Amino acid sequence: MKVAVLGATGFTGEKLIEILIKHKFVEINYLTSRVPNPVSYSELFPRFKGRIFTKCERLDIPKALKKADFFFLALPHTVSMQVVPMLIEAKKKVVDLSADYRIEDTSLYNKFYNTLHTDKKNLKKAVYGLPEFFKDKIKRAVLVANPGCYPTSVILALAPLVKEKVIKRNIVVDAKSSITGAGRKAVIDYHFSNISGNIWAYKPFNHQHLPEIIQVIKGVSGLSYNITFVPHVVGIESGIYSTIYISFKKKATQELINSIYRRYYKNAPFVRILNGFPKLKDVVGTNFCDIGFSLKNDGLSAVVASCIDNLIKGAAGNAVQNMNIMCGFGEKEALLSVCQGNKAL
Ligand SMILES: NC(=O)c1ccc[n+]([C@@H]2O[C@H](COP(=O)([O-])OP(=O)(O)OC[C@H]3O[C@@H](n4cnc5c(N)ncnc54)[C@H](OP(=O)(O)O)[C@@H]3O)[C@@H](O)[C@H]2O)c1
Repeated sequence: MKVAVLGATGFTGEKLIEILIKHKFVEINYLTSRVPNPVSYSELFPRFKGRIFTKCERLDIPKALKKADFFFLALPHTVSMQVVPMLIEAKKKVVDLSADYRIEDTSLYNKFYNTLHTDKKNLKKAVYGLPEFFKDKIKRAVLVANPGCYPTSVILALAPLVKEKVIKRNIVVDAKSSITGAGRKAVIDYHFSNISGNIWAYKPFNHQHLPEIIQVIKGVSGLSYNITFVPHVVGIESGIYSTIYISFKKKATQELINSIYRRYYKNAPFVRILNGFPKLKDVVGTNFCDIGFSLKNDGLSAVVASCIDNLIKGAAGNAVQNMNIMCGFGEKEALLSVCQGNKAL
């Protein structure tokens, strides 16, 4: 299958190439960014020398439609929704990594992303691309909204418990993200001397991923939860670690929580339920989400921890997982080998 990556020079675009290069059934046929002139992708990223011969060029829609059947959009939000209508009109399949098709209520999108949604028509067609909960819909989808990185780690930890209605409505999420979560653009705060060895909290009540988390948690449980979500940025290159504080409606046991998680993720190849708390380095460079918990002695509250690589399970890896499901390839195709920067290839 001929595949295009739009936004191929960003962090998630580069990670997509790293994964797709190992995919048995795809040919990477069209790559774009705002480069002034076409340039060999491996000239931009020398670690791909000898492994990919496609050029990176500015987006030209008629050419894109001829070159590829399946599109990954690793573009900033608002840019994706300028492109998607033309791709869907031409009957192409799309996985969009931006937030443009994730939030069903456009007034919330407008508020949290401080812009105006311009493609309600395709928003209605979009399927939220978290395979662990929406695989059947993803199989039939033409447009998949790949989840945000924080939401992936939080929803995978919470969804089984809220679906089973065993926890109380108040939930606190303390989540920590590496700096690649903010994309490749230069930002003063992320200069090495500012971020190295540093950590800070930000946007405790108005982070743009909050409405996405609330929407999906409500969607799977039918209930509204009061979620306090406090993101942090940490001076590390990869990963997200979410620590989640929950209380139970009735006294819970270790066996009960374990059995809920194991039942929900029995057929989920990329979610691993651990006996203790997960460690970030065990998932960095992989498409896994590791989840563990600790129950208080009285059985009334617990701490759950969940971690992922933000660029892989939180973006490119999950996007390829979605493509595999949409196109009938094996769900794990190209996703089991570890990829870590230069060591990936
Ligand atoms: N980083 C993460 O951990 C993460 C996780 C999940 C989802 N996401 C989402 O995935 C998308 C990509 O994120 P990223 O971190 O890869 O961002 P990034 O590093 O900033 O890359 C953005 C890509 O889009 C291109 N681009 C930027 N503005 C453009 C425009 N106006 N027209 C055409 N192309 C443009 C850039 O190319 P040039 O600048 O070279 O032109 C680059 O290739 C975003 O929507 C982000 O929210 C990111």
